[in-house]
Amino acid sequence: MPDFVHASREGSIAIVTIDHPPVNAINPLVARQIQARVAEAMADPGVAAVVLTGAGRNFIAGYDIKEFVRITSGAADADVDLGGILDRLEMSPKPLVAAIRGAALGGGLETALACHYRVAAPDAQLGQPEVKLGLIPGAGGPQRLPRLVGSQLAAKMCANGDSITGAAAKELGLVDEVADDPLAAAIALAGRASGPRRVRDMCLEPGAFAAPALPEKVLERMAARHAIAAVECAHRLTFEAGLAEEARLFRECLYSDESKALIHVFLGEREVAKVPGIPAVPAPAVKLAAIVGGGTMGVGIAMTYANAGIGVLLKETTGEALDRAMAAIRGNYDASAAKGRISKEEAGRRIARIQPVLDYERFAEAGIVVEAVFEDMDLKRAVLAEIDAAAAPDAILATNTSSLDIDRIASAVRRPERVVGHHFFSPAHVMRLLEIVRGKETAPEVIGASLALARKLGKVGVVVGNCKGFVGNRMFHCYRREAQFLVEEGAGIQDVDAALTEFGMAMGPLSVGDLAGLDIGWRIRQQHRHLEKPGVRKPLMEDRLCEMGRFGQKTGAGWYLYDATRKRTSDPQVEVLAAEVAAAAGIERRQISRDEIRDRCLLALINEGCRILEEGIAARPVDIDIIYVTGYGFPAWRGGPMKYAELSGWRRAYDRVREFESRHGELWTPAARLLELAGA
Ligand code: NAI
Repeated sequence: MPDFVHASREGSIAIVTIDHPPVNAINPLVARQIQARVAEAMADPGVAAVVLTGAGRNFIAGYDIKEFVRITSGAADADVDLGGILDRLEMSPKPLVAAIRGAALGGGLETALACHYRVAAPDAQLGQPEVKLGLIPGAGGPQRLPRLVGSQLAAKMCANGDSITGAAAKELGLVDEVADDPLAAAIALAGRASGPRRVRDMCLEPGAFAAPALPEKVLERMAARHAIAAVECAHRLTFEAGLAEEARLFRECLYSDESKALIHVFLGEREVAKVPGIPAVPAPAVKLAAIVGGGTMGVGIAMTYANAGIGVLLKETTGEALDRAMAAIRGNYDASAAKGRISKEEAGRRIARIQPVLDYERFAEAGIVVEAVFEDMDLKRAVLAEIDAAAAPDAILATNTSSLDIDRIASAVRRPERVVGHHFFSPAHVMRLLEIVRGKETAPEVIGASLALARKLGKVGVVVGNCKGFVGNRMFHCYRREAQFLVEEGAGIQDVDAALTEFGMAMGPLSVGDLAGLDIGWRIRQQHRHLEKPGVRKPLMEDRLCEMGRFGQKTGAGWYLYDATRKRTSDPQVEVLAAEVAAAAGIERRQISRDEIRDRCLLALINEGCRILEEGIAARPVDIDIIYVTGYGFPAWRGGPMKYAELSGWRRAYDRVREFESRHGELWTPAARLLELAGA
């Protein structure tokens, strides 16, 4: 059995070190080893006190999340019994001191709380972030933490999941000492300590429990409410009874859909980087990136690289266009500095990394070239050919196209195997998603390098296949089309948006259209009219709105009206328009419930997601989920569209799709993959 915990001696002080790379996560094995090594040391008559510490940069970063999945999926026979182990640690007969460097988070902080004294580095990180995974601390944290810092603050820490520094923890009484060398200080403290001082024996502040003031958004989540309830137990109950109630609340969270969804997203963000058939390579040592096109996207992409410490050449066609781009970049950085997100000096350094250029002269020095010119095939092919002539032989040639065929773009160069789609989302320096589009010739190592580079840029890279709209926009098209159909059939505009924001989407589908600009889709539809299949229902409303010059927020009117501050109000005229459009098209109008709105929009998304899986455009459901959570405002606590379908039942999804098919026809034909997943 591997040894993750070892003991050493310094005089009469035993030092027990957790050495479980990379971050000293605990699992049942590590926890049992901690207990065994501490118990052995305690039993040694030559030992006066014990110090518990972590090897490397952290104390304990938390409980191994994969263990939770093993339990809920039935794969692990044992349950989490960290609480029991920590109880026995706390009952140790000689002083037990935690020396904390780096992270003492989740089960790590709970372990430190079971020690009799705590010494932390000033920049150590202490917290109970379990709520971010839909869980509560379940190994005594909610009972011990309030005995040290007071119940209101303890409840707040457990409910919002934010951590505090070692220095702040000292102020609050959570740690006894701060020291730059916490191990040496802990050894000294252990030598002085007169005996065990158990947190369980400490008294809480008198009086009733006062719930912390927290934003409603936080309190909407069951885990946050349960975390507060668990801390309240410390007030109402004995320590033992509090532990029992805390364990019950923990289990309720552990088996909740919320927690399954959040854990799926947490692990999924890592899983998407491991693609079958793609080599895991280190990020290419890119010192210079060249961006062609300094419009909305080029500006954001340039900032993304500059933020990661990488130099940028930003190429435009005219001096004026370059000036505009650089002014936008300066404006964005100044705004960040004004808000205190970065210092003025840092803003200056980032701006200085971006060099405006009008030619390809220095392109041969760049490790990657990203094309972000207008969405026009001929232009993109011409630009790629120019890039081909100028770039180094081993450079990655990336295109930021949002809808064009990567293979056709790649055929304009002599090295199509180096061409890949890097589909950023607007604003590119803010949004975390990067769709990495794989053309038929793209070399696997270019995909692997793109994934590693995405991580270096602070993005979540997800590999997708080449088709119209790739994964995200292709599915979103079906979702937004359904929203329009619903309005035509009689659903209120605000009802459509509200049904989806109530579900948890960051914005409703019609508001998103207004934000992005309705004219973009309208122009594309005008160009592709000849490709439309006769007899298939088309949405009508957005074309009509565009014909009226209502392009959304930028024209002050779209589905809604907007004032100068972009505040939204509803417009009865659009409801009238919907009735007229329906009458002219012979669409029957009726009352439509929010349940139906939600199901139709989401199942349109899910059914298309199933087709995307069938076609291999996305390799796994988790890829789709991460795209939606990181790029489309899908609530993480629902797990993404595919996880949501799984948790609410594939059979239910299938039955509902069949029901819609019988009413609305071929756009609702269930995908073969949906049929398969439903076992129908
Ligand atoms: P934009 O119209 O804001 O910017 C395009 C820029 O390219 C203009 O500044 C233009 O002067 C410049 N340009 C044109 N030809 C050039 C050349 N030969 N050399 C250098 N610069 C040249 O367009 P936007 O929105 O930035 O889109 C760029 C690309 O990104 C398009 O392919 C678009 O489909 C894609 N995209 C756009 C998203 C968005 O939300 N706007 C999201 C994701 C991708």
